[in-house]
Order: sequence, then structure tokens, then C-alpha cells
Amino acid sequence: MYYPQELIDQVQQNNDIVDVINEYIPLTKKGANYVCLCPFHQDSNPSLMVSRQKQLFKCFACGEGGNVITFLQKYDSKTFVEAVQTLAERAGIKLPENYSGEYSKENQDKKQRLIECNTEAARYFYALLRSSEGKKGFDYFKKRELSDETMKKFGLGFADINGNLVAHLKKQGFTDKEILDSGLGTHDERNGLRSKFWNRVMFPIKNQAGKVIGFGGRVLGDGEPKYLNSPETSIFNKSTNLYAFDLAKASRSQYFILCEGYMDVIALHQAGFNMAVASLGTAFTPGQANIIRRYAKDIYLSYDSDGPGVKAAIRAAKICREFNLSCKVINMSPYKDPDEFIKALGKEEYQKRIDEAKNAFIFEIGVLRKQYDPSDPDENTRYDMEVAALLSEMKDEVARTNYIKACAKEMGITESSLSSMVAKEASKNRRFAQTPVLKNGIHEKKDDSAVKPQQLMLTYLAEYPSIYPQIENIITPEDFTDATYREVAVKFFEDVRNGVASPARMVSMFEDEEIQNKVSDMFTSYLNGIEKKEEKENALVDIIYRLKANALEEMKNGTGALDPAVFMKKKKELMEIRRIKIQLPE
Ligand code: CTP
Ligand code: MN
Repeated sequence: MYYPQELIDQVQQNNDIVDVINEYIPLTKKGANYVCLCPFHQDSNPSLMVSRQKQLFKCFACGEGGNVITFLQKYDSKTFVEAVQTLAERAGIKLPENYSGEYSKENQDKKQRLIECNTEAARYFYALLRSSEGKKGFDYFKKRELSDETMKKFGLGFADINGNLVAHLKKQGFTDKEILDSGLGTHDERNGLRSKFWNRVMFPIKNQAGKVIGFGGRVLGDGEPKYLNSPETSIFNKSTNLYAFDLAKASRSQYFILCEGYMDVIALHQAGFNMAVASLGTAFTPGQANIIRRYAKDIYLSYDSDGPGVKAAIRAAKICREFNLSCKVINMSPYKDPDEFIKALGKEEYQKRIDEAKNAFIFEIGVLRKQYDPSDPDENTRYDMEVAALLSEMKDEVARTNYIKACAKEMGITESSLSSMVAKEASKNRRFAQTPVLKNGIHEKKDDSAVKPQQLMLTYLAEYPSIYPQIENIITPEDFTDATYREVAVKFFEDVRNGVASPARMVSMFEDEEIQNKVSDMFTSYLNGIEKKEEKENALVDIIYRLKANALEEMKNGTGALDPAVFMKKKKELMEIRRIKIQLPE
């Protein structure tokens, strides 16, 4: 942290979240809390809840949440340090000038410099495209039918043949190290520091806040590699950024169109489809799905119509399913990609294709169908089994049932026979069940039924910290099986014991925005309309029971084998919990 925790606490204590948010968006009182239209997604009913007691905000529709500092970070695209500074100023608190550490000012400044370096490069490429040296780049884009306005909107540019960029950046005061770290320069023995990009048309890549973090560069004709991208740097993470996401987000569309290429995105925007984005020279990642999920529920895949494009679409659709994004596939044939499609048939036809887009799962089983000979009964059986296997992987029961219905119709078999095949496949899955893998950039997704009691427990404790002495001998942080929950529980229990419990403070323990959302979730679960004190007390006992039961289950399934005698003892203790009584304050 750049600033010591006590100072951050002080800043938070002197900036009541209700008052601060109210200065940006008018709040309405609702019960013990306040609500407003959520600024982080297209909201028609007030779904953003602000709690004065917990000093947290939480949107029950899009999932954004956090404390007063996070609010400013998200609402105003501020960095952590900037948000703290703004709030300190608002409360008249003086902040010290220098601090070093993890989230140090030094680190922040370094990143800021790399962004400035990339921004300067974007300016340089942009100007060059419009100069005589860049004419062939300009002509290239013209040949691809881009308007001046489109080129401007995407900040397109040109990297010259000599790669004079390095000299230019040095003149602007950037050091060799900064040029290397920004990904714009490469070092080679003979020539020293040189520009990575030369004789290419340049596509600046921006982060969510619209800051330039890297580039894609395309050769003018046929050459290899066709596209060259900036390497991953401390500011450019390919798996959690999307091309044109800043623009697509601002379009406030109900859905996103995901394509493969930069030129596809640009052609779509030029045709008025401002919600188009693309992954960055890699396959679509869970991290990207996770970002999209916060702004829209639907995603349309507009991938190439060739073999690799279809494969990539199926893979992307799987990821979407895991994130509960409803996914459809746009049919681009007979054209290769959306860019060529729009050029040939125009935007009205493309809109028609959007309207006709097929559910991605139905698309997938259609692709699968082509691999089996329909005249051979054995092949048909194999096909049916394979579809059943895919369906059996769907965890959500409602979704699975609906898909079984739709697929059975598509396959021309009865719902009940497909259903029993799925059940058979599911039992196979269970036998071979593997421990969940940690996905790239995403925290292990635990079964909701395990996390729910952990969430409810922390919410109860945040609302009624005075019950702590009654549960202190029953629950320990180890009962929280999710790693982040456990980390928070350790700290929160300690704060409760010291009489300084503050959910808002827990949020500031983490820098990652996704984890901050998760921590806000921990303290804002919906206590399901239970009003009567006695019912609440019973519910709480049930939560404690489920929490302990899950912890025990986890222990049994965990790595180290559990001594059967210990297990029996714990099981007996668990039974006792049913009989405990918790008293909530009047
Ligand atoms: N790509 C890449 N490196 C390559 C080829 C492709 O990073 N050598 C990425 C780029 O992000 C590109 C996307 O994959 O935009 C799609 O590639 P491809 O389908 O080959 O190109 P198009 O988008 O059709 O590009 P163009 O229309 O300019 O030929
Ligand atoms: Mn193309």
C-alpha cells in the first residue's frame, strides 16, 4: 500500500459512502439502506445498494461493489492513490508526500510512465500516417475502405521504415529502460535499442479507461508475421483486455459482438455496430469473459467462417457458458470474416445475421453432427452420446433441462431418452471428477452451495458484530474453504474482537478489482426478507451448520487423508450444532 492502513482508515471514516455517492448520483432511502440506478451497467430499476452501516456499495444486478475508495476508482476511472487523494482533500486530511511499498507510488509512477510512453508513440504513429512518409499506410487503410473519421476514432497510425520512434521517445525524455519496458523497443546486440515496429500500419490498443497500453501492427501487403503485437508488459495484459472495449462499453449496448481481428472490429464500428470488440491476438480468455459479464448478459460471436474460426467460436462459447453469458453465433458465410461480409453485403444484411444468430450450443452440436454419418445407426448413437456428454457438463440444472429440450428437438429424439443419456454421462463424470483447476487469472470457481453459507455468515457478522462471543468457539477462519474468504475472515474476526469491525476496510486489503467485488459480496448477501428476530436466529444456526458441514466435507475430500476417528468426532460435533441457540441483539 502506498499509504499506511491507519491513514486509509481515517480517510474512509471521514468520507461517509452515502454522502459521497450522493454527490454523484442522487440516492433514495430504502429501509436501512440507500439505492440508485447503477452507473456500471444499463440499469432500469435501481439495483445499486449503498449501506451506511457497512460503508459499502453493491449492485445486485451487475455485481460491482466496494467501498468509497473503490467507488471513485470505478466511477471516475481513478487509480487507488488518486481516489484516496480526492477523498482526503474532500475531508481536509493532509496526506504525507512519500511512501514506498507494494502498491508504492514508485510502482504507480512507473506504470504511468509506460502509459505515457505508449501514448506518445501513438501520437507519433498517428502523425506519421498523415505525413508524406506515411502515405502508403494511409492509402492502405483507404484501400480497405476506412473513412477519415474511423481512422481518427481508432487513432490508427503508421510506423516508419527506419523506426525513428526510439529517437523520438528519447527526445521526449524517456529512458532506454522505459522504452524497453513499454514494449515499444527491442534490444539487439548489433544495433542496440531499436523500435519493435517498422513499416506497419499501427492499431493502438487501449485499456478500459481508454489509455494506450500496447499496439498491433499489420504489414502492408503479404508478409510474415501479418500482425505483430506488443509483448505483455506491466500495463498490457492480453488476457484481461479487449480491443475497443472502452468504445464498446461506452455504447451501452445490451450485448457485445466478439470478433477475431482488429480490422473486423473497425469495420463493424464504421457500420454502426459500436459494441464490437476483439481479443488481442490470442484466443478468448476467461478473464475477458469476466469483464464483459459486468456490462452485458449477451454476447454474439462473429468469428471467421473457416475451420479454425469455428473451432475458436466453440471454445469461446464454452467460456461464455461458464460465466453465464448467453452466447450466439453469427453466420458469416459465404464470407470469411465480418470485415469482408460488411463490405460485400452491407450493414442491413449484417443486422439480419445478428437477428438470426444461432444459440452457440445448438451451433456446436450442428458442427459435431457433420462428423458423423447420418446413414449409419452406430454413428448416430455415438453422436447422441457425445451431445449427452456435453450436456452433462452443464452445472446449472435449469439451463441443462432447457438445453436437453432444445437439443432433443434438434436431434429428432425424445426428451426423456436424451435426458437419461445425460444422466448416464453425468455419473461417469462424477467417477472421474477431478479437483478444480485454477483458471488463468480467475479464482477457483467454487460450487455456489459451498460459498453461500460463508457469505451469509460474514454478512450476519457485519450486521450484528455483537454476536461474535457466541460464535467464537464454534467458527474459525479455517471453516471458510474459499481462500479469499478465509483471508478476509482471519482479518475480520480479529477486527471484530478489537471492536473495529469494518467491511469497507476489508475491501481495501486487496488491489484487484475483481477481488474487491468479491469481498463486497461477502458482506452484502441478501438476507432474504426475513424480518422476525426468531426466524433470523434460526436461519443463522442453519448457516453455521452448513458452513461447518461444508468445511468438514472439504477436509474429508482434501489432500491429507482424515483419520476416521477424527472424522467421526467432528461429525458428532456437527450434529450438536443443530441444537445451539444464537441470540441476536434486540
Ligand atoms: N493475429 C496475430 N498475429 C498474426 C495473425 C493474426 O496476432 N500473425 C491476430 C490479430 O489480432 C488479427 C486476428 O488475429 O487481427 C485475426 O487474424 P486474421 O483472421 O488472420 O486476420 P484478419 O483479421 O482477417 O486481418 P486482415 O483483414 O487485416 O487480413
Ligand atoms: Mn480480414
